[in-house]
Amino acid sequence: MKAASQGPVWYQLYLLGGREAAEGSIDRARRAGFSALVITVDTPVAGLRERDPRNGMKELLSTSLFAKIPYLPNILSHPGWLAAFLSDGSLPRLENVVSPGKGPMELVDVGAALASATVTWGDLRWIRELWTGPIVVKGLLTGDDARRAVDEGAAAVVVSNHGGRQLDSVSPTLRALPEVVAAVKGQAEVLMDGGVRRGSDIVKALCLGARAVLIGRAYAYGLAAAGPEGVTLALKILRSDVERTLRLLGCPSVGALDRSYVEVPASWPVQ
Ligand SMILES: Cc1cc2nc3c(=O)[nH]c(=O)nc-3n(C[C@H](O)[C@H](O)[C@H](O)COP(=O)(O)O)c2cc1C
Repeated sequence: MKAASQGPVWYQLYLLGGREAAEGSIDRARRAGFSALVITVDTPVAGLRERDPRNGMKELLSTSLFAKIPYLPNILSHPGWLAAFLSDGSLPRLENVVSPGKGPMELVDVGAALASATVTWGDLRWIRELWTGPIVVKGLLTGDDARRAVDEGAAAVVVSNHGGRQLDSVSPTLRALPEVVAAVKGQAEVLMDGGVRRGSDIVKALCLGARAVLIGRAYAYGLAAAGPEGVTLALKILRSDVERTLRLLGCPSVGALDRSYVEVPASWPVQ
């Protein structure tokens, strides 16, 4: 399906599987009509997700049926889920990460592929030559990194800690946002994500200089509860809550939001 037929859609790139795999992904993204390339840079290795081993993620994603035996009672006690899983073609592969001669990457191999990939600022320069559209660098938390990304040609940066799924105890993104906005000096768009669940979360980010926010789990909750309609509903809830928050603040529009609507704690690095 052509991405462009659904309106502007961005392609998120992980530098997995080496430059040749990335070149293939970028080429397919261009041909499919994606309008921007989002390069995620905060995943040099997968974070320690302690629930994954407890839930048997490795065994369930592996191709070995034997490894799945301990999880059979759980699987069989969810017949609806099992039927949908099987009818959907069972375990998907990463069709967008194709290493020459190897085919699409298996999900179970992603962790090792992330760990063996090294992403440097030089990669951004190399991608700049392959992709003529806007490049968004996702996963920055400091003014210095944001400045460097913009100097290397990023049209936008995403202040993100990957929803807290990578390095525990890093800054909350709202707190890192003012430093990044100050460093970028209006020369690129600044977006933010992490913990956006309510309209007031969006409003706070806009007040502190974000141009927009991204959501990870908020739409996924809607998807899990009610499929595509659930995603639409999640977006509607956020939108109406932004409008309610503006009214409660006495602010006429999103464009009129500024620092005067929020009180930034004195302990934050950039006021
Ligand atoms: C299940 C899950 C999978 C994710 N996969 C990716 C990914 O493949 N690439 C990426 O850049 N970010 C990924 N993220 C991070 C999100 O893009 C986003 O930064 C984060 O979820 C924002 O926080 P929120 O979930 O609180 O909105 C993932 C997040 C979740 C919860």
